[in-house]
Amino acid sequence: MKDQRQSESLQEKTQSAGERFSSSGFILAAIGSAVGLGNMWKFPYITGQYGGAAFFLLFVICLLLVGLPVLLAELTVGRGGRGNASTSLIRLSGHKLWGGFGFITILGAFVILSFYAVVAGWTLHYAMLSFSGELFKHNDFGLLFSDFNNSWMPVFWQFIVLLLTGFIIMRGVSAGIEKFNKILIPGLVILLIVLCIRALSLEGAGEGAAFFLKPDFSKLSAESALVALGHAFFSLSLGMGAMMTYGAYVDKRQSLGLATLAIGAGDLIYAFLAGLIIFPTTFVFGLEASQGPSLVFVALPAAFSAMPLGSFFGGLFFVLLAFAALTSTVSLLEVPIAFVREAFGWRRSFSVIFLTLLCFLIGLPSALSLGNKVPWLTFGGKPFFDWMDFVCSNIVLPLGGLVVTLFVGYAWRGAAEEAGLSSWWLRLWLFMLRYVAPILVLLVFLYSSGIIRF
Ligand code: PHE
Repeated sequence: MKDQRQSESLQEKTQSAGERFSSSGFILAAIGSAVGLGNMWKFPYITGQYGGAAFFLLFVICLLLVGLPVLLAELTVGRGGRGNASTSLIRLSGHKLWGGFGFITILGAFVILSFYAVVAGWTLHYAMLSFSGELFKHNDFGLLFSDFNNSWMPVFWQFIVLLLTGFIIMRGVSAGIEKFNKILIPGLVILLIVLCIRALSLEGAGEGAAFFLKPDFSKLSAESALVALGHAFFSLSLGMGAMMTYGAYVDKRQSLGLATLAIGAGDLIYAFLAGLIIFPTTFVFGLEASQGPSLVFVALPAAFSAMPLGSFFGGLFFVLLAFAALTSTVSLLEVPIAFVREAFGWRRSFSVIFLTLLCFLIGLPSALSLGNKVPWLTFGGKPFFDWMDFVCSNIVLPLGGLVVTLFVGYAWRGAAEEAGLSSWWLRLWLFMLRYVAPILVLLVFLYSSGIIRF
């Protein structure tokens, strides 16, 4: 009864002007959430490590077969329940247990934000360094990156990212999140096109593009498939309550099926164009595309430094990355904000200040663990940062995805009506959610948490 009253009160809040997306605003905000560091920082290095074009193909298959059905499921739950990622599940099922699962996804979003903001901070730092020309006074970019991590600068930039994120969210759904995405996403598209033209017009760009576009299936392994599936989830912002939370602010008349296709297409096109920037650029300058998380911060500065007008294009690249990251941090912070507002009745402004500061504190060990300032932050062979990434991306995220999949596939009878699909699509969607997605997600979970190995 109390839950019902609580979710009704959020329902009222979300119906009040200012707490609802317009139709185009929702699509842009959701694309903004999906497109992020996942596309430009993570995707290129895992593609480099797990088989180039063949891996990209696997990623596309995972995105279509599992990512899109689960994305639609999250949006449908959000709009049907009109609550946060926990109360929506309680409201639609009538059982508290589902809310408990939902709560885990909320915690996941909060913890992801704590270290995601650290990487977003790096991009701001590198944008500054590049525009000022400071970046290219160096010639050892690996050393530059580790010197940066040994300093307090990552903490400063992490704080700035959270401050900006909090500032946007403070203004609410329509005047904050929606408006901000409407400005940044077109900016993102323009930057992406400029950089793509620059990269593809480099002499010798074809070879890098070929690595990304010509599949060599001998490079694939079972591990590649699992990494591709996990990344499809991460890239579409699934399993972390983000799409459920955004779904709660969507109008009943909006077609969620079309929205799902638009978000999926936006995410895929962005990843594709990012690949067309990063691979030719690294190949032309003889750099290694498989060097892991530091690819964007070590190989690319080296490439930009060797290119005419490099500090300008390098600066643009890092601004692009920062924009993409901010539209995602906003969606991550909104997940716990929606929760505390509903659970404790807090005002938006107080919720934002409280959670932004808390997130900053929780993120401190991540920001510091990659340097030499606090040696005990590295344990079990990994820095604290990597542990956070490992636990969230490999355990919480697939589990969160599984919860929504099973919920819509088996537990919630009203899903079909809320999703509003025509009968053929509906059957396909439910088939994917009931049989294909749970099995694949379970495999990813067992594999990435280390329970099974091939
Ligand atoms: N999709 C975002 C990216 O690709 C990351 C993200 C994950 C955002 C989960 C929200 C929720 O960078």
